[in-house]
Amino acid sequence: MEKLEFPKGFLWGSATSSHQIEGNNHNDWSEWEKSSERIEQLKKDGGSPSDFISGRACDSYNRFEEDFDIAKSLNHNIHRISIEWSRIESEEGKFNNEAIQHYKTVVKAIRDRGMEPMVTLWHFTNPIWFASDGGFLNKKAPLRFVRFVRFVVENLKDDVSLWITFNEAVSVYGPMAYISGTWPPQKRNFLSYLRFRKNIIRAHTLAYNEIKNIYHKSPASEMNSDNVSPISPTPMSMSHNIREAQIGVVENNSPIISPWYWRLIGLSGLVSYYRNHFLLSGVFPYYDFIGLNYYCFKRLPGSYSILPRQDSVKIMDWEIYPKGIYDRLLDLKRKYNKPIYITENGIADATDEKRTRFIKDHLYWVWRAIQDGVNVRGYMYWSLLDNFEWHRGYGPRFGLVEIDYKNNQTRKIRTSAYEYARIISNNGFEF
Ligand code: FCB
Repeated sequence: MEKLEFPKGFLWGSATSSHQIEGNNHNDWSEWEKSSERIEQLKKDGGSPSDFISGRACDSYNRFEEDFDIAKSLNHNIHRISIEWSRIESEEGKFNNEAIQHYKTVVKAIRDRGMEPMVTLWHFTNPIWFASDGGFLNKKAPLRFVRFVRFVVENLKDDVSLWITFNEAVSVYGPMAYISGTWPPQKRNFLSYLRFRKNIIRAHTLAYNEIKNIYHKSPASEMNSDNVSPISPTPMSMSHNIREAQIGVVENNSPIISPWYWRLIGLSGLVSYYRNHFLLSGVFPYYDFIGLNYYCFKRLPGSYSILPRQDSVKIMDWEIYPKGIYDRLLDLKRKYNKPIYITENGIADATDEKRTRFIKDHLYWVWRAIQDGVNVRGYMYWSLLDNFEWHRGYGPRFGLVEIDYKNNQTRKIRTSAYEYARIISNNGFEF
């Protein structure tokens, strides 16, 4: 048994995203979920379409205080959310005051409970007007995105220091939307994928500069800019008047498991580049931290001789491979040398039999990476709540908290959530 201690001020919490938990969103996803093509397809596959329509989701748009109370009771001190663009700007150029007031209340509610809010500006969903005009394929998209970002950041800057522009745009969304065609707009076209990537790089870079400018214009941060450390190690020591923006981008990373011959001809390096590095190197150095989402590895043909099949939960079939998080952390440190937050890591374990082990095994490897010099600042479990898992609907259950969808979205804290709470209160655990 070894006592694993995390650095002082390490941030612990969980992550969510607007469309997956809020309920009653009206965006390109909600429309796609209800489209006749989608429903036909689901019927053909034998699914019940209602399990694949986000609908009321966890009703967190109304129940966020209850959710944050739970997170607080579980000792979390950071909480990652996303802002729903389609609520803020449901018509082009018209910003909705009620919606931004809502998110002001939300970030304040997080902060009031002693948690640091981390806010993602884009997590897979788009306003209808934006999507119908080509989404991120349109050359106007980066400026449209920045206009939305400006409005949000100007309104929330007093309570938010940690911003994320894009969630998994190039590693997951781009391939799902434009290569496999599984996600809306289901446009399988390699050239579209290339254009999407190019526009995301531009949108991120412009948004990064815009957010920095907004904070530098603000008199409070100007006055104090000399004595502001990049990120205060203890969130509670942050005074509301001396915030500096720290802006990151989140990508999903996977180690590539491949036999020697693919490595020899450079194929595994190439796959790793497109999967793990394309965006991070494309927007370098315009981010203050990397958000790492880690779930599992990718296999190239012939890899079973290198690594036998690993355990998984049936519903997602993502093989569990905790050491992979260490491999990715070291590689990211070597290439970019930026602070890193684990912005997602989790398991769709409805029975909760594997979740505690899963969290501890991954945390062990995060700890090892920290011992080896990687600047990891926090860990956010995916997710606080069971939620709407995109094209897989409500089947996968990632939550620390179970949602009873049939019984008025009742919340029930799982055992693993209490185990995680204990780890947090000790800032470590025996392993
Ligand atoms: C990630 C997404 C997140 C969630 C998890 C399971 O790729 O960012 O929204 O769906 O997977």
